[in-house]
Amino acid sequence: MHDPRRPAPWIPDRRQPDQAVLYDDLARELDALLAGEPDRIANAANAAAALYHALPELNWAGFYFLQGDELVLGPFQGRPACVRIGLGKGVCGTAAAQRRSVVVPDVEAFPGHIACDTASRSELVVPLLQGDVLLGVLDLDSPRTGRFDETDRAGCEVLAQVIVRHLGR
Ligand code: SME
Repeated sequence: MHDPRRPAPWIPDRRQPDQAVLYDDLARELDALLAGEPDRIANAANAAAALYHALPELNWAGFYFLQGDELVLGPFQGRPACVRIGLGKGVCGTAAAQRRSVVVPDVEAFPGHIACDTASRSELVVPLLQGDVLLGVLDLDSPRTGRFDETDRAGCEVLAQVIVRHLGR
């Protein structure tokens, strides 16, 4: 149950060790943060900042949006990243082409991984689907090998649905 006295998950003094509760709170707070704003860039920018500060052990959190047969860099937090990724290329292009989440425990073991930030050791990419339409992907990178598990995958898929509702058409 959500405790309204608990600060939003991106507030630094929050203590929340339980990942499932963290994702529940984050989905609710993110929905409230993005509600009422129709601008896609504004909402993607706030979502990237919220995730980057709420989820522990990330060095990159952000979006790539589909343009033609390429993913193009959108709002993010972290170091500057590669701008264009072909469908089917890297972790992002694989998740987009297959329209499914991809968890990579060790990026060095993923053939074709695109190294934007050499600090990244593991990665989670979730497709952004509006009905049947692929809008792009949500990409999270961590400096720790094996950072992302099934709770993260399931939690981020719910977050992706929340975000997609606020990205307009
Ligand atoms: N590593 C990704 C590229 C994007 S960056 O991590 C921000 C990939 O292999 O698709």
